[in-house]
Amino acid sequence: MEEFKEYIRYKALVEEHILNFLPEVDHKSGILCDAMRYSLVSGGKRIRPVLLLAACDFAGGELNQAIPYACAIEYIHTYSMIHDDLPAMDDDDLRHGVPTSHQVFGEGIAILAGDGLLTSAFEIMNKDMLIYFDDPARLKCRVRASFEISKYAGCRGMVAGQTADLEAEHKSISGGLLDYIHLNKTAALIVAAVKAGAHIGGAPPEIVNRLENYAENLGLAFQITDDILDVTGDEKETGKKTGSDKNHEKPTYPALFGMEDSQKRLNELTDNALKIIEPYYDNAEFFVRMAKSLVKRTK
Ligand code: IPE
Ligand code: IPE
Ligand code: MG
Ligand code: MG
Ligand code: MG
Repeated sequence: MEEFKEYIRYKALVEEHILNFLPEVDHKSGILCDAMRYSLVSGGKRIRPVLLLAACDFAGGELNQAIPYACAIEYIHTYSMIHDDLPAMDDDDLRHGVPTSHQVFGEGIAILAGDGLLTSAFEIMNKDMLIYFDDPARLKCRVRASFEISKYAGCRGMVAGQTADLEAEHKSISGGLLDYIHLNKTAALIVAAVKAGAHIGGAPPEIVNRLENYAENLGLAFQITDDILDVTGDEKETGKKTGSDKNHEKPTYPALFGMEDSQKRLNELTDNALKIIEPYYDNAEFFVRMAKSLVKRTK
């Protein structure tokens, strides 16, 4: 993905802090930390934490205050990838160009590394909230952010989408169900990122709603791109094996609608996202560039 100036700045902040929130190593469970660290630094695009920081910035908040939440959401994303790759799910052995967690550490430790990352995310956010006990206004923003993240990551969002995705393997499903899957397994956490960032930045409801709308379109576009790249992508660029979806008879946009219509839908969603953010163009360059650079991934 084309990473532009602001993206690089936010991403650098994520890289700088992402390991600071890992629990201290206890030698009896050292392998757990090794596995958590392995997946955290193997080379993700950091889209979710970058969006969270950008939303906080857009709302006029202080970036350093959003860092715990940015890292927490990346911990959740990283756990979801470890579990998504497990033999019981997508059974993939390559991510970010290196062997997946269960290939290196075994299935049991990979499951536990995912569990560790997921629960650490809530430890990180709660620890941050403890600092603001005497500052109800700021505490309220953080409770809201943490609520959005937990809601969209769980069985009202990503986990529901992953469930429907598994249930739909080897089946022919409707376009409506495919959108449900994509909106939940992928767009939900992207929506959570912008809403959480906006709350921490102290955004009014109109801004939170607009960013939510933008992120829903962007999130669906993001998963369609991922589906397209599973067919046409270059393994060296995506860091994962192409053809995985077809091998597992996964419900995807290209499988259901063909490549041309998938690309059309992707362009449509990108246009929607841009239109939603249009009234704020003077101040929303990041969100404009983000949508445009996403659509370019498949070109
Ligand atoms: C991959 O997400 C899984 C999807 C939800 C499409 P990303 O493409 O954001 O993964 P990394 O972290 O950048 O590799
Ligand atoms: C994963 O979607 C979505 C998650 C929430 C984990 P995919 O299964 O398409 O992601 P990749 O292609 O393995 O990265
Ligand atoms: Mg999957
Ligand atoms: Mg997968
Ligand atoms: Mg995929």
